[in-house]
Amino acid sequence: MAAPRVVRTRAELRTFLAGADRPIGLVPTMGALHDGHVSLIRRARAESATVLVTIFVNPRQFNDAADFEKYPRDEAADLHLAGLAGADVVWIPSVEEVYPAGFQSTVRVGALTEGLEGAARPGHFEGVTTVVAILLGLAGAERAYFGQKDAQQLLVVRRMAADLGIGTEIVACPIVREPDGLAMSSRNVRLTPEARAAAPVLRRALLAARARYEAGERDGAALRAAMREVLSTEPLAEREYVSCADSETLNELARFDGPALLSMAVRFGTVRLIDNEPLP
Ligand code: PAJ
Repeated sequence: MAAPRVVRTRAELRTFLAGADRPIGLVPTMGALHDGHVSLIRRARAESATVLVTIFVNPRQFNDAADFEKYPRDEAADLHLAGLAGADVVWIPSVEEVYPAGFQSTVRVGALTEGLEGAARPGHFEGVTTVVAILLGLAGAERAYFGQKDAQQLLVVRRMAADLGIGTEIVACPIVREPDGLAMSSRNVRLTPEARAAAPVLRRALLAARARYEAGERDGAALRAAMREVLSTEPLAEREYVSCADSETLNELARFDGPALLSMAVRFGTVRLIDNEPLP
């Protein structure tokens, strides 16, 4: 597989894309690529003539400065993996290239961003939607690929694209997991060995609630309690939230009969992990 072309400025990206075969598939990332990202790039490869990956650790979406500083960065390894997965071009901009001098625009999505990750991480989704709007605008891609791992992000980006008339189709890709069930995440490398061993408890909690659902339970509170019960068996896991929400509005459910999203955020020391499971 040929090494992907690397572009760094908006102008270089525009020039490359002007001559690119269509359709273009866009895969936005913050780097520290793993098999979750690879699955998105491969899907884009299968459906596109040109695959554009972007790598940008977006300061505006980090509500915690230490998390931003500690976010893993390895450009050479990322380029290697992106190339293997089938990327044609990788945009690796500086902060000034994404947010040029004088930048003063913000994209804010409403109610969908208020709960769950939005409640736990003030300002996070404004940072996400602002940068994703820029990426979608610059790329002008036919499709953009997002992981179900960040289920709320996916819904928020879909809403934004529909609201703003952005013509790019937003494609959802399934969660890729380690063999023990831990959802792949760039933050997993920061877990201590003890926390890494404990981290599959998120998946076990989600599966316990799913088992209750499959046995006929349709009470949101009971499913949230089932997840809490499993999480509480792991002393290293500090629960931030568990949720059983409407899969479109993300409002917490009482009794329900439609599709739902089970989700949670759990801290292991300074490392914050999220996971989810759509029902049915
Ligand atoms: P990042 O965390 O790097 O994730 C980039 C994409 O990979 C997202 O769409 C995410 O949902 C997906 N992804 C991450 N882990 C995954 C897994 N285990 N299985 C499947 N997909 C997975 O999400 C972001 O970056 C940023 O918020 C971004 C959209 C790039 C905007 O800055």
